[in-house]
Amino acid sequence: MLNRREFLRSCAAGIGLAALTPEESLERIISLNSATAGLSPEEVARDEDFWFQVRLAFTEDRNIINLNQGTIQPGLRLVQDAVRRHSEFSGNAGWHSMAILNKEIESCRRRLGNHLGCDPEELAICRGGSEAGQIVLLGLDLKRGDEVITTNQDYPRLISALRQREKREGIVLKMVKLPAPPVPLDQFYNLVVEQVTPRTRAILVCHLTHYTGQMAPVRRLAEFCRSKGIELVVDGAHGFMHFPFKLADLGCDYYTASLHKWTMAPPGNGMVRIPRDRIPKLWPLTPPWTDTPNDVRRFEDVGTRSPANRVAIAEALTFNEGIGIERKAARLRYLKDRWANRLKQYPQVKFYTSLDPAESCGLATFGIQGIDMAKLTEYLLDQHGIVVSHITHPDGLVDGIRIVVNVSLSVKEIDYFADVVEEVIKKGKIA
Ligand SMILES: Cc1ncc(COP(=O)(O)O)c(C=O)c1O
Repeated sequence: MLNRREFLRSCAAGIGLAALTPEESLERIISLNSATAGLSPEEVARDEDFWFQVRLAFTEDRNIINLNQGTIQPGLRLVQDAVRRHSEFSGNAGWHSMAILNKEIESCRRRLGNHLGCDPEELAICRGGSEAGQIVLLGLDLKRGDEVITTNQDYPRLISALRQREKREGIVLKMVKLPAPPVPLDQFYNLVVEQVTPRTRAILVCHLTHYTGQMAPVRRLAEFCRSKGIELVVDGAHGFMHFPFKLADLGCDYYTASLHKWTMAPPGNGMVRIPRDRIPKLWPLTPPWTDTPNDVRRFEDVGTRSPANRVAIAEALTFNEGIGIERKAARLRYLKDRWANRLKQYPQVKFYTSLDPAESCGLATFGIQGIDMAKLTEYLLDQHGIVVSHITHPDGLVDGIRIVVNVSLSVKEIDYFADVVEEVIKKGKIA
């Protein structure tokens, strides 16, 4: 194994930048881990040598600075190679090979359960965060007049699922109007619980919203829901593998995740935690071939599909484990603070996200007074190769740029983005 000095020497000799095999990329991270042993996550977060090698594990086009890592984070070579390998293997003998791979999914389930801190037999692996949420929201046994509460900052596709139940089955959907910029978490909590009535059956909140990355007071809501017998569904599309936490810290019943976001698994993966006693009570979104009411796999039977991108979840988990979730979160916060601290000194800049570390991590949204944020989004891409996401809210709550960082980014890239935006702020116009 190379230590850090040896690795840098090998770079100088011109071999370090050669394309690395997935195994080499991981080996480099692990060897650096030993070089950084004893350092706190915050110290490692500032160590560009460490993160340089992490960057080498990605296939990203470095002519583009991708600051929109919120929809999908698919650039790990290790993962892409695994998908290719498994696809080739599953082509060997059709169903025979696919059945072999299907068994390996059980190992992913076990490891995912370990990371979330739940019994793997409570985890269904599905096709994404939307499907994970729909499995619960469309599966709950609700009657006409039963109430479900969610917020105006929840994910539109999941709000649509509830709206469909409203139209089709006569449930009542109550929308909490959350402001942006965010209110203190106690106020958030009060705004939700004051909508509760004896007919309330379920509450849906985002662990972190996709609009602003703002966290919800999940623990308090979970305690409240438990005391009232209300099901709490937490949309963790932006929570899982973003920063360290376990299910026990949240205390909620249902937790959903999108695995092609912060876990960096292949596109088309998600999961949902369903408490054991609810497994037989929830209606499967896609009724299985043979129903096994107490088996969480009853929520996974969607017909024939390739196992290749599911079993490659393993490589993504291995990569995250190689870095360590504490160090990953510290790096994401470091990169977020690096641009946000520069921009927040300007009075024209408005943050839609609390920058308190207890309320956000690598995702934050800002606007600039007097600047058209849609045009700024275009300008950043066309003139500077910087990809960002223009975020607006249907109620006009947000009109800003969402920056979502990842461990594949360098401080130079973050600084370049901050330089360009600072110039726009100082000039008071784009270009
Ligand atoms: C908060 C939130 N929930 C759910 C989803 C849906 O996840 P997926 O795209 O994996 O279906 C997203 C995706 O962006 C999201 O941001």
